[in-house]
Amino acid sequence: MNIVILSRGPGLYSTQQLYLEGERRGHRMRVIDHVRCSIVVEKGRPKVYYEGERIHTIDAIIPRIGASVTTKGAAIIRQFEMMNVFSSVSSAALLRSRDKLRCLQLLGMADLGIPKTVYTDYSQNISDLIRAVGGLPVVIKLLEGTHGLGVILAETQHTAESVIETFNRLKERIIIQEFIKESKGADVRVFIINGEIVASMKRTAAPGDFRSNLHRGASSVPVQLSKAEAITALKAVDILGLDVAGVDILQSHRGPLILEVNPSPGLEGISKTSGIDVAAEVINFVEKKVKQKRSARFR
Ligand SMILES: Nc1ncnc2c1ncn2[C@@H]1O[C@H](COP(=O)(O)OP(=O)(O)O)[C@@H](O)[C@H]1O
Ligand SMILES: [Mg+2]
Repeated sequence: MNIVILSRGPGLYSTQQLYLEGERRGHRMRVIDHVRCSIVVEKGRPKVYYEGERIHTIDAIIPRIGASVTTKGAAIIRQFEMMNVFSSVSSAALLRSRDKLRCLQLLGMADLGIPKTVYTDYSQNISDLIRAVGGLPVVIKLLEGTHGLGVILAETQHTAESVIETFNRLKERIIIQEFIKESKGADVRVFIINGEIVASMKRTAAPGDFRSNLHRGASSVPVQLSKAEAITALKAVDILGLDVAGVDILQSHRGPLILEVNPSPGLEGISKTSGIDVAAEVINFVEKKVKQKRSARFR
């Protein structure tokens, strides 16, 4: 098969593992930087160009789209979808899950546990907003932040007010969330492929931090999921329409609460922690889907 990995970093662990695994199985692998792609949209003939070269006869793409280029990445994926190329994440699902607010709205509507969350770009009556999420401390986060950057714990009214006012002034979209104290700086990452849990880990924040992102120095161990956690994670990816995803869950007194669902989850932490070759599972899935698609065409 001809498989393209859409990635800005050919040297990144996840990209490399996918590339090598694909090669090992005899596929023609290629890494393409979606930021350097252009697309031609015209009636019935969608085309993708990479640095001037037309990209065609591709069987599947595996998008690894960073948060800062979601919109462009989604447009490139959509173009491949129009070309009838299988994508391990659909453009629609990528957009749905990347926006933390949209994601929480969809999950909340489906009755899944989420931390109480307020969205506003209006700095008046901040004490009402804080009360709405259950009082201090509160977590303030950028809607499109990632790797724990742009996630702030405000312990006093004064800090909360100044942070909210500053972000509003900068026109940065934010949410204000109840702080789940009992999760004690830890969360659970559940890696799901094609509606099945393939690996999971518990991440614990570095001393002095409350953010359990591995990029922020957190540590991780394998974890056995509770039934409620497994069901919650599986429902979440189903609602968002993601085939490959990392679901982040806080363990709270009122059960599992979903923090976010990552449509481009990193492979390094989860593979090394769980001992499971997650890249191989992803390639497996892509092979299966392309085969299904081919046989459907000839039926
Ligand atoms: N409401 C919350 N209560 C407790 N801890 C939180 C809360 N929100 C985020 N955290 C901690 O901060 C980390 C980063 O938050 P998250 O919303 O996942 O942002 P990012 O997209 O930057 O990873 C989480 O993994 C979790 O450890
Ligand atoms: Mg996160």
